[in-house]
Amino acid sequence: MLNVIDNKLFVEDVSFEYLAGVHGTPCYIYSKAALVNEFLDYQDAFKGYSKTTICYSVKANSNLSILKIFNSLGSGFDIVSEGELDRIIKIGADPKKVVFSGVAKSDSEIAKAIEFGICFFNVESFDELLAINRISEDLGTKARVSIRVNPDIDPKTHPYISTGLKTSKFGIAIEDSLDAYIEASKMNNIQVVGIDAHIGSQIFDLQPFEDSLARLENLFYKLRDMGINIQFIDIGGGLGIKYKDDDIPPTKADFASKIIKIMKNINCNLVLEPGRSLVGNAGYLITKVVYEKKSNKKNFLIVDAGMNDILRPSLYSAYHKISKSISSSKNKKVYDIVGPICETGDVLSYDVALNDIKLGENLVIHSAGAYGSVMSSNYNSRPKVPEVLVSGKTSYTIKKKETIDQLLQNEVIIDD
Ligand code: LLP
Repeated sequence: MLNVIDNKLFVEDVSFEYLAGVHGTPCYIYSKAALVNEFLDYQDAFKGYSKTTICYSVKANSNLSILKIFNSLGSGFDIVSEGELDRIIKIGADPKKVVFSGVAKSDSEIAKAIEFGICFFNVESFDELLAINRISEDLGTKARVSIRVNPDIDPKTHPYISTGLKTSKFGIAIEDSLDAYIEASKMNNIQVVGIDAHIGSQIFDLQPFEDSLARLENLFYKLRDMGINIQFIDIGGGLGIKYKDDDIPPTKADFASKIIKIMKNINCNLVLEPGRSLVGNAGYLITKVVYEKKSNKKNFLIVDAGMNDILRPSLYSAYHKISKSISSSKNKKVYDIVGPICETGDVLSYDVALNDIKLGENLVIHSAGAYGSVMSSNYNSRPKVPEVLVSGKTSYTIKKKETIDQLLQNEVIIDD
């Protein structure tokens, strides 16, 4: 939801200049209209398959106000920890639309999720099946599970975010999954309800999604022949978004049409777990130019946001577009934009052409809504930055800036 008025960049009806002035920098900014539109686009894309539930993947951005917006639009949630469970309980989510993924669920997490009444666990190992059975027996109930199968599909994305390959830690290999289903269906306190797969993230090619779903379809029929009736197929998340100006990700409608075609044969409930494709392009990080420095090879722009605030460029060499908040057409220079952290890898972007840079001016880091604030850290004892939601002409603080006192409050000085 970007606009340019008099060379100034606006998110909805508020300029980044104003936001930086009022909320300080660095600061995460989200457009409410963009969040809502992305969600409605998904709903619209899947309206041809009424048995679809969108379970927003909370890990992409877990801010309570953002969760509340999706909840009010009818979203369910994909969670991976007790912390995420507490978040969705806090915003009043419907337990029947919650799925719980993750490879290392603890006893207390499992118990709490059963008591909340979630739709199903995505079980990632035989050991986890035993744990869920034991805990649900203690609670005198039956837990609903789906097995996360690893379909051994190459999603053709960054290796760190490929999860459906044989070599990854996720899920149970598809060839072993029949045994897992047989075991699970014999357990007294387990009700088998689903099949799940999540093959990776930031995926542009739709073929791996189709290949993965075809393998799940095959498994669905095998299970039916064995008398195990599957009610849900959960295809995970993973749809890619535009980061570079010339990126052309698949549309939600293209994605939906491929999935719906297969689902119409299977004809059971469909669960989606999108994260990035709902929030990624709705968020920005504003940062201020602190210093400019020239070495004999490079011009550096040193800004006040670092790898502790946005880790993706350092961790995955991920590209985020960076632009001025007030554009200009003169004095173009090429810069490496670097943060304040004492690490060579604290580079937000290499070789960025910017015009007429002045100390103290604000830059906008784009597509920062997913895996931005949630992956930030306190490295170099830097407090976490505030988060702001813009809706029309108004900006709301949806997370206050952390204080140094809060940073230190859990530490204990021992007597020496
Ligand atoms: N479901 C499961 C089981 C997942 O593990 C994930 C993401 C999702 C859904 C949501 O995937 P999405 O629609 O957002 O692609 N930190 C990395 C991304 C890690 C993704 C982890 N799992 C990044 O910054 O690119």
